[in-house]
Amino acid sequence: MKNFLKFFKPPEPVTPDQVLAALSKVLEPEVNRDLVSLGMIHNLTARDGVVSFTIRLREAGTPLQVPIERRAKKAVMAIPGVKTVDVSFETTPRSALRDTSRLNLDAKSVVAVASGKGGVGKTTVAVNLAVALGQMGHRVGLLDGDIHGPNVPQMMGVPDEQPFAFGEQIFPPQAHGITVMSMGLLVPADAPVIWRGPMMHQAIRQLLRDVMWGELDYLIVDLPPGTGDVQLTLTQTLPLAGAVMVTTPQNVAFADVLKGGEMFRQLHVPVLGVIENMSYYVCPHCGQAEPIFGEGAGEQLSRQLNAPLLSRVPLDPAVRVGGDGGLPVVLAAPASPAGKALHQAADVLISGINASRSQPASITNLPQHTIKLHVK
Ligand SMILES: Nc1ncnc2c1ncn2[C@@H]1O[C@H](COP(=O)(O)OP(=O)(O)O)[C@@H](O)[C@H]1O
Ligand SMILES: [Mg+2]
Repeated sequence: MKNFLKFFKPPEPVTPDQVLAALSKVLEPEVNRDLVSLGMIHNLTARDGVVSFTIRLREAGTPLQVPIERRAKKAVMAIPGVKTVDVSFETTPRSALRDTSRLNLDAKSVVAVASGKGGVGKTTVAVNLAVALGQMGHRVGLLDGDIHGPNVPQMMGVPDEQPFAFGEQIFPPQAHGITVMSMGLLVPADAPVIWRGPMMHQAIRQLLRDVMWGELDYLIVDLPPGTGDVQLTLTQTLPLAGAVMVTTPQNVAFADVLKGGEMFRQLHVPVLGVIENMSYYVCPHCGQAEPIFGEGAGEQLSRQLNAPLLSRVPLDPAVRVGGDGGLPVVLAAPASPAGKALHQAADVLISGINASRSQPASITNLPQHTIKLHVK
């Protein structure tokens, strides 16, 4: 009898862990990351083969709901012992989108400088905006979010400067009155991809918790190009007041930058403005403006993203010289066409922020666990 019963043992009950494991293989079609790591699964129960959970969507009524539901159900039904899967949906409250309660950053406004595309002058704009805001008397931090091409230290003239580590605390260097920190100093670019992901995640937290930014009026973040993991994590972790999109005037850039703008829209991060860089070239001999890279992408983007065109920055050798030499053009040649255009961008940007500023982003209490990242 005992032996007989052995063969008719009831199946092991399905556990929530099994369900989570199955759902962690289901990708959200748009950002191509799994539902579990995106924090979309809530209220999970599994009882007597009846599995029930809520999927939290970023946006109500999104067309993604149907494919997400289908994929999730299929994955869970494939677990042996599951009889029915009950999925409901809810929309993320705007405030919960950003993990602000666990960070330690005292900045009145955090502004990301972004672009769907590399080489459009994003870092140049981030550096010059930061310095221009500093010149106006604001307390400014500049965070280089680019792991693969951290150019901020070079463009700020502190390429060899190391942050000073004291116990857990990291004191970032100052350059031209701006507090500068680079992800490139925390996440080695040559680390294997499998490490870079989690390291990056921790590095972002460290940057905001262990880095002694001091009190800031503005933290400018130079986001890496594209809409991948780093952008997503930074965007979801930082309490962003909004993003500034940088484009060049030609259509090729337009499509990529629009995609970047879309990402912010979906994460409920306002696009504060568009800056068109390398807009035209003023001939030093005849003074005529030539639209070398085409025309119109800035205006078109501004319309499509429903955000003001903050400035059109000309192609100006002084910009490159300033970048290479570590003396940003707003400081080295403020009266040059590019210097003026970048000052204008900073002016218009902060009037927009002041008009819409609601709450300061002051946050404390990050949990203590962290992997130790080396400070080079
Ligand atoms: N308006 C401009 N005029 C002249 N050179 C520029 C201008 N904007 C950017 N550059 C130069 O173009 C190169 C790429 O700019 P960068 O800011 O590094 O782009 P991104 O961060 O988008 O990759 C740099 O050498 C920079 O000095
Ligand atoms: Mg760059």
